Amino acid sequence: MQKLIIYGPAKLMGEIEVEGAKNAALPILTASILAQNKVIITNIPDIADVRHTIEILKYLGCKVLFENNTVVLDSSSIERFTIPPEYAKLMRSSVLFMGALLSKFRRAELSNHPGGCEIGQRPIDLHISAFRQLGIEVFEHNNRIMCRCDKVKGSEIFLPIPSVGATENIILASIFCDGEVVIKNAAKEPEIADLCHFLNKLGAKIRGAGTHIIKIEGVKRLKSEEVVHKVIPDRIVAGTYLCAVAACGGEVVLKNVFPRHLDSILHILKSSVCKIKELKNEIWIKREERLKGGQRITTHYYPGFPTDLQAPVCSAFAVASGVTIIKETIFENRFKHVPELVKMGADIHVEKDIAMINGVEKLRGCKVFARDLRGGAALFVAGLSAQGVTEVMDADYIDRGYERIEEKYSLLGAKILREKGE
Ligand code: UD1
Repeated sequence: MQKLIIYGPAKLMGEIEVEGAKNAALPILTASILAQNKVIITNIPDIADVRHTIEILKYLGCKVLFENNTVVLDSSSIERFTIPPEYAKLMRSSVLFMGALLSKFRRAELSNHPGGCEIGQRPIDLHISAFRQLGIEVFEHNNRIMCRCDKVKGSEIFLPIPSVGATENIILASIFCDGEVVIKNAAKEPEIADLCHFLNKLGAKIRGAGTHIIKIEGVKRLKSEEVVHKVIPDRIVAGTYLCAVAACGGEVVLKNVFPRHLDSILHILKSSVCKIKELKNEIWIKREERLKGGQRITTHYYPGFPTDLQAPVCSAFAVASGVTIIKETIFENRFKHVPELVKMGADIHVEKDIAMINGVEKLRGCKVFARDLRGGAALFVAGLSAQGVTEVMDADYIDRGYERIEEKYSLLGAKILREKGE
């Protein structure tokens, strides 16, 4: 296991380029199996989840080259429609191969319930019920999920929860549908809009992405031209930088960001004494005085405050003045970073889905354990602001979603070492 050793406290200064969005890159790579010709996808983050997705693509029979944050993919030799358990277990987004493989072969098999961070139950009932509404037969046996159909039928699907993954899976499965599939109460996350933008370049006919009604008009076939696509910037990675500056103080310019994707966190930080300027593809942030707490933050579906930033924001407000309340409404088990922050001297109490943070003057470095991706990032942020040395164990979780995090933050003046943990 990997370990990150952070020598705090850091003051973050400088400019940094934000990497491409994991949550857009993964479904876009998955969707690439539908392309008629070669696809070139740029701004792909070099993170563990991308490498796992590429392993699955290669297993299925695709030719994939990944260099300098660019993937060149040729799916003309794809021959398999089964995702074996060792791959399904790797990450939650393996479930999206179901939709893409159904469009490609009208058959798909996932040999294990999809893995991923243990932040809640994370069922896939909405995916399965939507598939059935599309006329797809779904059999579940011994943890295996098998799907097949002759045709995906045009229909209207109402999602009781605007699930990101279910919205993406329905879109992927519906590209060649008979007539039109309409998703009501669809998720509106920018990563879904990016996926649809990519699919439309391939020749799909999708309207309404980024709104709560998405319409997919079935096409007979996709275009035969080569397609080039640039993945949108990662708003969660950008938001983590913002939380780190809020926690540590300093002055940083984030480059390659879409500020409008970060409205909810920018609003919170602006009300907490951070100075912020938003330019077209840049954000400037400066924090001099102590961060001011006293807010109530509730996670929500986009454009609300993202659950993926709940843990990093918790670390920032752990050292703010006053009491900050955070309510987690999306996942049931997403406060695993709190006991570790408490080891570092934070004063945080969790009661069901609410964390009450009594800001302390400073945190102390110690040995802490990452338990999931974003919780791990929160410990990293806490380590940057803490006095002394913080060892973040099991940093492999962080590597799933952050590209060489220690190198990036070192560019901003932090002192961090990476070691193979015991
Ligand atoms: C995606 C993101 C993840 C983010 C989450 C919420 C990717 C690869 N991952 O995950 O980073 O934290 O959105 O913004 O894009 N649910 C059900 N049944 C289902 C599906 C979901 O009950 O069939 C529930 C979940 O348990 C959760 C809520 O719906 O409580 C939202 O989950 P969902 O939007 O599906 O998250 P993911 O797509 O897994």
